[in-house]
Amino acid sequence: ARIRHYKWDVKYEYKSPDCYKKLVITINGRTPGPTIVAQQNDTIIVEVKNSLITENLAIHWHGIRQRETPWSDGTEGVTQCPILPGETFKYQFKVDRPGTYLYHAHYGMQRTAGLYGLIRVSVPDGDSEPFAYDYDRSIILNDWYHNSTYEQATGLSSTNFVWVGEPQSLLIHGKGKFNCSSTVASSPSWVCNESNPECSPYVITVIPGKTYRLRIASLTALSALSFEIEGHNMTVVEADGHNVEPFVVKNLYIYSGETYSVLIKADQAPSRNYWMTTNVVSRIPKTSAGLAILNYYPNHPRRSPPTVPPTGPIWNDTEPRLAQSQAIKSHQSYIHSPPPTSDRVIVFLNTQNTIDGYRRWSVNNVSFNLPHTPYLVALKLNLHHVFEQTRPRTGYDFKNYDIYRKHNNSNATSSNAIYRLHFNATVDIILQNANTMNDNDSETHPWHLHGHDFWVLGHGKGKFDIYKDPRQYNLVNPIMKNTVPLHPYGWTALRFKADNPGVWAFHCHIESHFYMGMGVVFEEGIERVGNLPSSIMGCGDTRGLGRP
Ligand code: C2O
Ligand code: CU
Repeated sequence: ARIRHYKWDVKYEYKSPDCYKKLVITINGRTPGPTIVAQQNDTIIVEVKNSLITENLAIHWHGIRQRETPWSDGTEGVTQCPILPGETFKYQFKVDRPGTYLYHAHYGMQRTAGLYGLIRVSVPDGDSEPFAYDYDRSIILNDWYHNSTYEQATGLSSTNFVWVGEPQSLLIHGKGKFNCSSTVASSPSWVCNESNPECSPYVITVIPGKTYRLRIASLTALSALSFEIEGHNMTVVEADGHNVEPFVVKNLYIYSGETYSVLIKADQAPSRNYWMTTNVVSRIPKTSAGLAILNYYPNHPRRSPPTVPPTGPIWNDTEPRLAQSQAIKSHQSYIHSPPPTSDRVIVFLNTQNTIDGYRRWSVNNVSFNLPHTPYLVALKLNLHHVFEQTRPRTGYDFKNYDIYRKHNNSNATSSNAIYRLHFNATVDIILQNANTMNDNDSETHPWHLHGHDFWVLGHGKGKFDIYKDPRQYNLVNPIMKNTVPLHPYGWTALRFKADNPGVWAFHCHIESHFYMGMGVVFEEGIERVGNLPSSIMGCGDTRGLGRP
């Protein structure tokens, strides 16, 4: 195993990812940031310099479990104090499993400003994967807004609530195309210019006859997406770092925080190029499709395909999305069986609320707030006064809550209390969706767990039945993931082992939803956590304990 050392300079720069010029956060001048390429069991060291001038920073390594390094998880308020402007912070962790992972900002809504990238971990020399391919390529999908994260955050946290709205464009690997003449007051060409080479579409060149592994990841702020390659089927082989029993799709549905590998064969007529497209699903699409080019060598890479891009599936048809979720099973020779029973079951009812005049998201009617002192430090140093010591609710009134009706959830509260789990306990989480504060509306929420993979035991429609539904759990070959969708008016059941000493966030990966309180925090085995580096301290009640 090797040590891979990176030095990153993070700053704001003017860029035009979708032809519209705005301030974006770059790493060494780039967004998406550099791909971290490593081999299983390598140690990654990233020295991050915060050159944002007036803004704090933290970077999370999404899907990396951080075993024995919980302080390197990069979650501001949970595992560290923010990196202040001018400071350099060193993340160090092991990538202990092969697969496709992500990194992104985890401070406020900063991810939306462009700070994100991919982590690719290959199998050790001599090991092989249960599928074969000639070349390995990556695609990060994102949605893109023209206003700043400050404007968004301010709107969301005002009593006269301003929703972020639908994104202006969809980016494929950092490139999109905004229609510059579409705005009411159309922008001057130094602001929006569709022939700027910075926003020319992303191209993947393929050699006819070869098989490609495409690593597809989503880091959208809001959108659930479908992804399609004109004329080509995709065979799904990996999900969140786990080998999947292969299955074929025409559309891949992908939610923020998920990664997939698919295989495609360049077996179509080689005389032309083909569209790769991404479209919004689950919300009324108001954003035009994201487009990229699958270039068949030796055609010119910039030559547009002669066809109209595929339009994508019907946005409000939940069935095929649920079907894809249910189709993902562990590859038969990589099954890690879940424990047959659990020690604890926690039900999380997902609701929207108004608390003291503010629009919020909640689980079990409690909306999450981050404390000023990170939990990891507070718990390790016994600073128990820095967050609420109550036990959060572990369920809701099953019998009486009508998930299909609009509620005003007037008893909702905000809290920074956390769930404390017994070390090594097997924990079941039932995510239950419901109606939002609008009539006949229920959203898709991709839930992401830090520090663990969980088994996906099942997805279902309607209200979870605590007696009947567990009998349908897949305990034979469930996939393990770190991010999973909760479909509209549905439920999702997960199981994980609380075997990673530390403090871990579990939240909806929609940037604005987490910002509005849609998350919880788990603690397990804090007494087993090693000595904390002082670099994670310095804020809240740890002022003076931190960096010199
Ligand atoms: Cu990728 Cu806490 O997030
Ligand atoms: Cu959500």
